[in-house]
This record gives sequence, C-alpha cells and structure tokens, in this order.
Amino acid sequence: MCGIVGYVGTRPALPFLLAGLHRLEYRGYDSAGIAVVTGGALEVYKEVGNLSRLQEMLAGVDLRGTTGIGHTRWATHGEPTTINAHPHTDCSGTIAVVHNGIIENCEQLRRELLARGHRFRSDTDTEVLCHLIEEYSDGDLFAAVAAAATKVIGAYGICVVSARHPDLLVAARNGSPLIVGVGNGENFVGSDVPAIAPHTQRVIYLDDGEVVAITPEGVQGVVGKADLSARVHAVGWEPGEIDRGDFPHFMLKEIHEQPQALARTISGRLVESEGDSHLGGLNMTPKELLDVQRVIIISCGTSWHAGLIGEYMLEETARVPVEVEYASEFRYRNPVVGRGDLVIAISQSGETADTIAAVREAQRRGARVLGIVNVVGSTIARLTDGGVYLRSGPEIGVASTKAFTGTLAVLFMIALHFGRQRHTSNAEGRIMVRALQALPDQMRQILAREAEIAELAARFVNGRNALYLGRGYSFPVALEGALKLKEISYIHAEGYPAAEMKHGPIALIDKDMPVVVVAPQDSVYDKVVSNIEEIRTRRGQVIAVATEGDTEIASKANHVIYIPQTLEILTPLLSVVPLQLLAYHVAVHRGCPVDQPKNLAKSVTVE
Ligand code: F6R
Repeated sequence: MCGIVGYVGTRPALPFLLAGLHRLEYRGYDSAGIAVVTGGALEVYKEVGNLSRLQEMLAGVDLRGTTGIGHTRWATHGEPTTINAHPHTDCSGTIAVVHNGIIENCEQLRRELLARGHRFRSDTDTEVLCHLIEEYSDGDLFAAVAAAATKVIGAYGICVVSARHPDLLVAARNGSPLIVGVGNGENFVGSDVPAIAPHTQRVIYLDDGEVVAITPEGVQGVVGKADLSARVHAVGWEPGEIDRGDFPHFMLKEIHEQPQALARTISGRLVESEGDSHLGGLNMTPKELLDVQRVIIISCGTSWHAGLIGEYMLEETARVPVEVEYASEFRYRNPVVGRGDLVIAISQSGETADTIAAVREAQRRGARVLGIVNVVGSTIARLTDGGVYLRSGPEIGVASTKAFTGTLAVLFMIALHFGRQRHTSNAEGRIMVRALQALPDQMRQILAREAEIAELAARFVNGRNALYLGRGYSFPVALEGALKLKEISYIHAEGYPAAEMKHGPIALIDKDMPVVVVAPQDSVYDKVVSNIEEIRTRRGQVIAVATEGDTEIASKANHVIYIPQTLEILTPLLSVVPLQLLAYHVAVHRGCPVDQPKNLAKSVTVE
C-alpha cells in the first residue's frame, strides 16, 4: 500500500518520478505527489485523486532538478485530501518525506513536537517524521533521519530529500518494503520493483532497521550492514512484463498470461519417471518431511483461498492434518504451534503485513516456516526457512489471478512430494505429473471461450447480489469467484459450500438471484446436481461451470461454461479461470475501474 519512488542522478527527476508512479498506481490512488530539489529549493506538487490529476497539474511545469521523490497514496491516517497527500514537509519547507506504513506513536510525537514549536499542516502520521528529522538536522541529513528513526514506533518505508542536499536521497525501512535500484551515475528508490524495473535490473532489498544514503555515485553510509555491494540482486523481470501491452487492463492481461505463467511455475520441477516433484527451495530432507506432524497454512484473501485448496490437496495425498488460518487471526490468538508443525505462508507480494507478523510468530514458537511467494527478495521470501517461488511474473492487477493458479500449482507439487514420501505410489505420481503438465493447454481452451463468458456477464450488469456454490475442491473456488466479483464490480457476492445453502442462504434465492455453481464431474458431482435442482425449483438463475461433455447439467442449469476434464485435485486450476473472466467482464460492463477498485490497493502492508 502506497507507492514510493525516488531518483538521484544527472537527468531531470520529474519524468522518472511520474513514470514510476504510473507503474505503482496499483499500490494506491487516493492522491499523488512529488518533490524535486531545484536550484537549492524544494518544489512540491500534490493532488487528490489518481495520478492523472497530478500529471495535469504538472503539464507545462519545467522542473530541472535531478533529485526527487514521489508518492501514490492509499490513505490510512487522514482523509484523501490534497493537504494529506505526500510528500510532506517540515516547518521550513526544506525537508520532504514520502512514507509507506503507519507510525503508531504519532500522537505522542506530535504533541512533543507541537510543544517544541513545530507547526503541523496535515492529519497524517507521516508529518511527524518531517518535523522529527528537522529537529535533528544539523547539516547531516543522513544522521538526522537515522536519529528520527530511533524515535518512531511502527512500520515505515521512507524516502527523504532536502533542499540543502541537492544530490542526496536518504531511505529508511522498518516493516514496509523498500528497494534501491543501482544504475550508472544515477540511483533509484522504489517501494516495489515495477517502480524502477525499466531503468535497472540491479536492486538492493533494504532490511528492517536500515538507513541508507543514496547519491548518483552510490549507496553509502549504511547503518547496521557493512557491505552493500554484496547485496545487489538481479530482478529477473523483463521491462515488457510490467506493461499492459495491448490489453485494456492488467487484470485481463494476467488472466491470459496464466498458461505461460503456469508452465514457468512447473518448469524443471517435475520428474515424470519418478512421479514426483523436485523443489530444492524447501530445504527439507525426506526424514524431515516424514517427521511433520501437522501443516498450518497462513495467508490472506485470495492466497487464503488457495490455502484452503492446499489443505484438501495435502490431506488427500499425504494424509497429514492441515489447518488453514487467516494470518491476521493466527497472529493475535495465541495459537498452539511449535516444533513438529510445518507452517506454510502464502503471499503473492511477500509483503502482506499480517502474514509477515504471523510468520514471525510461528518462528518465535519454534515452527519451521516455508514461504510460497511470487516476488523474489520480498520480506516473506527472506524471512522463511525455505520455500518455493511462483515464477508467475509481476502481478500488477489489484485482483489477484495468475498468482492464485500459480500458488495452486506449487501447493500441488508440495502435496505430490509429501505424498510420495508417505503414501502415493510411483504410478499415481506419474498420473499426477502428466495431468499437471497438461493444464497450460487446457487453460488456453478456456480462455478461447472468453467471448461467450463476456456475453453471459452482460446479464449481471444490473444485479445487486450473487451466490457462488461449490463442494469439495470447488468450495474454495466458489469463495474465490465471489471475491473476484465483489472486489472489482462492487456486486455483493457470497461463496458457500453448496450443501450449506439449505442451512440459510436458500432463503435468498428467487428469480433475480444469479447462482454460480462450480460443478465439475468429480466425486461430489451428483450431490451438486441435487443442489442445482433445489435452486431451480426456487426459480434461481443457475450458471454452472461444468466438465466438457456433461450433457446432463445442460438440461438443469440456465447457462453452462465448460472446462476440460482433469484430475479432481487439479480442477480448481481450471474452474477458477471462467470465474475470473466472468468477474472481469461484469466489472467492464458496469464501467468499473478494474485495475483500481475503490478502497483497495495491491499489497496490504499495514496490519
Ligand atoms: C484479492 C487479492 C487479495 C490478496 C491478499 C493477500 O484479489 O489480491 O485478497 O490475495 O491481499 O495478498 P498477498 O498474496 O500478496 O499476501
């Protein structure tokens, strides 16, 4: 949440800042702003609303300064107004700060600073940082930021400029992601790789508690770490990957990228002859795998839905008990967890604050923690004792799509490997491997039916509610389908286990209620068909996601979207795709801003 960019070099900073903010808009769009050091003064421009309003404000403004910072905001403290937009400045207007995170002791600091004569303009927690830095400034900006950081409780990723230091950015991190991009004669700061990816592939991931001084020549004055050059990593993303290309929205692009992304996720990790997967990053011996008494999966949102499917996969193949927890609940409810437990943290971004806190809690209590993460070098990737990267490529769309199917593939490969140590035979394993390898092509077949799904979506346009039902592996898919619809089209939708419908939600069903039923031909198919009958009897409108060749369902549902046949355990990787497309097209028909859904931002870095 909140995007940060910084530039120090020899070129004008402004174009870099605006382009970087454009690529970071998925992190917040309540307001945007920039500060550039120009001729010994600080020029600050900020505007409420999304970035285009700031761009309009800056059209024709000629800022030549070669050092600057920028911010796109997802509001926490203080309403989304121009006054509360970042960058914030100190009393003298010479120091500017952009911040991602929450300063928990801001009220106390504000009172102390007011008593010392500082004048506040905004309602934000961030502004205390400006005045604190001002308080400690005696000609050394780096030392002042480091001193201010010791007074602050909470999470922050900050980037600071001063009119008195025209070639200097100071960045500090504690709990909120921040990276330094290493260029030639110029350097960059970003809250996230897309901010800097077109300019350099070399990044340094800052650690918690670190404060760094960045000049055009290098990254210096590191507190707490001796040698920064040893920490330069290659990003591994191509600049083209963070563009929308010919797609109208990132979400649609990412839905369509799923076949290639999935192929990358599984590439080199399956050994068909062994009927097994090889996941070196797990860092676990066969004996350690056998010793696992219980698996606990922790995650949030869409990643939590993937975790539910992981539970079914692991219990089925490895017969190991699995619990799935919302990271935010796990963190605060004194969980019983320790040695013998294997905790798996799932996070596309690797920066979700609740999941990070849950990982720390599990480690503190002695559990081994694995990460399933997409963003290389992210906090969870670095914190965990082992793990598997998704390799899904950058996911920019706020609504997660390709990371969901990538996570399911990784969970399946982990389940397969666990299973092979315990119960699954070589022959069964080989069948599973082949089925997984067939999925990218099967996904392409579903994507080819987009026009049909878009037409169906038109019927939802004026709807106010929708119900999503599924049983077994299809129940978490129903939850995910409902989440996709509500987050981007603002239609209230609920996911339910199909059999639970009779225990309450059936009261809602009438001719105006669309009911999406995920009903592949699996072990619970007959039961789900009975549930469809119950809905039809009450004149509900049934949209079924069914297996190709299923003629029975066509006579019972109002509309059927077909998916290819696969193993039951792998069905979610296919059945979710039409639901992603359905949600997308409903949102487009309703004129919703698909990539910038209201009140949401990608990567929830506050608790
Ligand atoms: C929904 C969505 C969110 C995320 C959740 C966790 O489409 O994207 O629910 O899944 O915020 O994010 P990560 O996986 O980055 O921890």
